Amino acid sequence: MQKKPTFYITTPIYYPSDNPHIGHAYTTVAADTMTRYKKMRGYNTYFLTGTDEHGQKIQRRAAEAGLDTLTFIDNIILRFKELWQTLLIDYDDFIRTTEPRHKKVVQEIFQKIYDKGDIYKSEYQGWYCTPCETFFTERQLKEGQICPDCGRPVEQMKEESYFFRMSKYEKRWLQFIEDNPDFIRPHSRRNEMVNFVKQGLEDLCVSRTTFDWGVSVPFDTRHVVYVWFDALVNYISALKESPQSGDIYDLYWPAQVHLVGKDIIRFHTVIWPIMLMAAQLPLPKTVLGHGWVLIGDTKMSKSKGNVIDPIVLSQKYSPDAIRYFLMREMGYGLDCNYSEDILALRINTDLANDYGNLLSRVTGMAKKFQGGIILPPAESTQFDKELIELAQATPQRYGQLMDEMRWSDALIELWKLINKANKYIDDAAPWNLNKCGEKGKLASVLYNIAEVMRLATIMLAPVTPSIPAKVWLQLGIADLPHLHDWESLVWGKLPYGISVSHGAPLFPRIDLNALDEIPFTALPDSLPVVAKPAQSVAPPTCSSEAQKELLLEPEISMEQFKTMDMRVVKVLDCERVQKTDKLLKFELQMGEEKRTIISGIAEYYQPAQLIGKNLIAIANLAPVKIRGIVSKGMLLSAVNDESGQLELLEVPGIESGTRVR
Ligand code: ME8
Ligand code: MG
Repeated sequence: MQKKPTFYITTPIYYPSDNPHIGHAYTTVAADTMTRYKKMRGYNTYFLTGTDEHGQKIQRRAAEAGLDTLTFIDNIILRFKELWQTLLIDYDDFIRTTEPRHKKVVQEIFQKIYDKGDIYKSEYQGWYCTPCETFFTERQLKEGQICPDCGRPVEQMKEESYFFRMSKYEKRWLQFIEDNPDFIRPHSRRNEMVNFVKQGLEDLCVSRTTFDWGVSVPFDTRHVVYVWFDALVNYISALKESPQSGDIYDLYWPAQVHLVGKDIIRFHTVIWPIMLMAAQLPLPKTVLGHGWVLIGDTKMSKSKGNVIDPIVLSQKYSPDAIRYFLMREMGYGLDCNYSEDILALRINTDLANDYGNLLSRVTGMAKKFQGGIILPPAESTQFDKELIELAQATPQRYGQLMDEMRWSDALIELWKLINKANKYIDDAAPWNLNKCGEKGKLASVLYNIAEVMRLATIMLAPVTPSIPAKVWLQLGIADLPHLHDWESLVWGKLPYGISVSHGAPLFPRIDLNALDEIPFTALPDSLPVVAKPAQSVAPPTCSSEAQKELLLEPEISMEQFKTMDMRVVKVLDCERVQKTDKLLKFELQMGEEKRTIISGIAEYYQPAQLIGKNLIAIANLAPVKIRGIVSKGMLLSAVNDESGQLELLEVPGIESGTRVR
């Protein structure tokens, strides 16, 4: 027996620092779609996903939540797994980097590269962006020590570290890219990476000593392995130490595709292949970088407070509809926009009107005109042939685009057939054929439409996995599996005499006028904290300052303090929020940027008093939505113990945007 070709595909392993959003869902749905497609094409597939659990960011998030790190992570992983189940994601393995099987392989690879002399000890001095878990040199930063990738403040780092001799591999990497032009896709990304490497590769800091949430360096346990070095190894640790029987690693490595978002292409196309070169392991075939799901013109991400919970969304619209939307909406290498309007419109147009309606039309007319039976077609006319030829050509075109992972283009190609079939019905006007007694022509039209529906459903199956079974039932071919697979994408296989039934619509139409949009659920709906004046408590009996005990918050490190970005802001405008007696809405100037902050201090100030004042705001506080207004940040104030009067902290004469330390 001939051995099946293999297809190993991975998603990035996600940071379980926050609940997943539809940006994460995109990559996973794409990987699942691709796996299902390749399986249909006869491949022996393996699909890996998982979570990236180490590093300072996760440790801090857990501490903020007041939970032990692993407990915190376990809770979030439940949400990830629930989401994958909801979206009909069928992965073969879910790797967690905190598993012993993963740590073992990370240590083996670290040791191997160290033994070769490509890892050495030195001191790191520079900048680090914890949210991105990325090192930066001074010149890479934006003005004001800001991360060039995410725009948040970076932290200074000076510590003993192990370094990975990346610089040594510069030429080899460039040669590899030249010899493997499809390693980085889309090709525009390849050029970007080549330019980046040509500017010179620096050695990479691959260990940390200031925290311990990581895999320890095998020969120096004061160090933990840098989280990216650790994370990338998942693609092979999952295979090498697979819970499944057989030699999974030998069978599947190297991977055919690592699917990644564009923000992490550099890690996957520069650092990862060089790690593999140094460890003398084969390199993956392709890294495909996709765009982002945007809200307006910003990336959907928890830190920007604009996420949509995909579980809620799938429950509302069905997982098949969400999967189709994601695969159709994001063009190859491009970003796409999300809004519930766009989603609902896409569902109505493509799925309800074009695809679903084709089935309703054919089953409805077969019932009305032919007693529910698909009868043998008459000889094809030129008019029929145009449709049949397109139907015969589509699988090859669709397959090629799917192989190239141009999912959106593949679906556009498939929809040419679906639209043609709808137009074919309109032009043929079967209701007239019936009236005029043109039974032969009528039978042809209904047969041809049913056959297009069968072919389109097979092609669409990897994207909308729970739809085919419903279509087969309505077409009356549920127990004829040889008519459901890729090999059966041959015109005319649909037998005559099948009895169809007119069932529920595949995708119910959404009333766009009555769209009750899902809010950005991940936003905390609490007010920013404003210190409340003490209730009239009896004054202390002894008022000597020395005896007044201050109740302090728990101690924090300098490092933690530095994560708080406080800025001088100038009040451009201030007004009361309607129908409230506590809230003021501030329009603020902060350097170049304008900001809105809602503050619960209306009982202490007249809005007009505040215009023109320079105040202090915590600028990087997660946004909150208050009375429909997004408030980004918090104004600092203090309450006078004696009078109970609240005072905003003012810094007259200091320019807006200045950082407060
Ligand atoms: O980067 N649209 O994890 P992560 C599309 N742990 N894709 C998006 C997106 C959006 N709005 N937001 C995020 C990490 N993503 C590392 C990976 S792999 C060895 C380690 C994508 O949870 C993002 O581009 O921050 C990335 O591909 C993936 O979600 C995981 O992001
Ligand atoms: Mg990220």
